[in-house]
Amino acid sequence: MFGRKKNIPEIDKEQLELIKTAQKRIKQKKRLYAHFVVFLIGAVFLIVINKVLKIGESFTIFEVDWFVYAILLWLFFFVYHVFNVFITHKFMGKAWETEQLNKLVAKQQEGIEKLKKELPSKTQAETETFENSHLEEKKKSELTIIVAAAENDAIGKHNKLIWHISDDLKRFKNLTSGHHIIMGRKTFESFPKPLPNRTHVVISRNSNYQVPDGVAVVHSLEEAIQFCANDPQPYIIGGGEIYKQAMLVADTIELTRVHHTFEADTFFPEIDPAIWKKTHDVFHPKSDKNDFDFSFLTYKRI
Ligand SMILES: NC(=O)c1ccc[n+]([C@@H]2O[C@H](COP(=O)([O-])OP(=O)(O)OC[C@H]3O[C@@H](n4cnc5c(N)ncnc54)[C@H](OP(=O)(O)O)[C@@H]3O)[C@@H](O)[C@H]2O)c1
Repeated sequence: MFGRKKNIPEIDKEQLELIKTAQKRIKQKKRLYAHFVVFLIGAVFLIVINKVLKIGESFTIFEVDWFVYAILLWLFFFVYHVFNVFITHKFMGKAWETEQLNKLVAKQQEGIEKLKKELPSKTQAETETFENSHLEEKKKSELTIIVAAAENDAIGKHNKLIWHISDDLKRFKNLTSGHHIIMGRKTFESFPKPLPNRTHVVISRNSNYQVPDGVAVVHSLEEAIQFCANDPQPYIIGGGEIYKQAMLVADTIELTRVHHTFEADTFFPEIDPAIWKKTHDVFHPKSDKNDFDFSFLTYKRI
């Protein structure tokens, strides 16, 4: 049971194929031979029926006995058989099949080569389409700067706002509610407490900067933007340092221009008309709730 394995001689695939073909040919030839014998006996039998047994002796076609037609018809089938075994086999045998197969394989190979050549350009086109759609997808997330700045671009002094414009605070609340608000550490510290219904993302270089629950700390503007990836419109809410960096990447600026000049220590960067196009401009005069004239302006990156 666990003795040495017997060495059984193995026939390779090609040899096996040859044997199978030879066996097939022998069978074909045997069948043809049997057909020939049956045909001879059959022909004699038909002649005997007609001439000896006188069956259908009076039946002729064009004055020729019917058994002649029967033998000729049988002869036709026999010749067809011979043709199949010798002629068809010779011209459409194994070699012919192989040749056809090779032709088919060559054709397919040609098709594959053609596809391979087309593939890089196709892949490139597909990549470009993907990148464009990806960019569009990215663009769907509109990074918006929101700021209130005086005529001299002043935005704050001693880490505080300089004016009180109630309608501006309302607008700020309306626009930013439900969104991420990105801010510098100093601006965050200027709030008495986090603003309700907004996700605060505070930028600080301090890796141990402590914040209340629900407030996120990141260490660069890039990281802040990544953090807001699922928000279709995150807002950059200041202060001066963060605005300066965000001007390079933002899509929109929502500016409340306060029509007055103030002394300040923090300023908003200049809005370059070559980069930014004003798309919205609504003037509001000063009132009981608003200490100064102001305008709501929207700028879009060109
Ligand atoms: N008018 C308005 O619309 C408006 C809006 C917001 C704020 N403000 C005013 O703006 C003033 C505050 O602005 P600010 O310029 O002084 O400060 P800020 O921009 O609010 O915050 C500056 C701090 O952000 C962190 N920071 C900045 N760039 C960073 C970077 N690339 N990587 C990591 N951390 C970075 C640093 O925090 P660490 O020091 O912790 O590293 C830096 O000290 C206040 O007066 C405020 O009232 C005005």
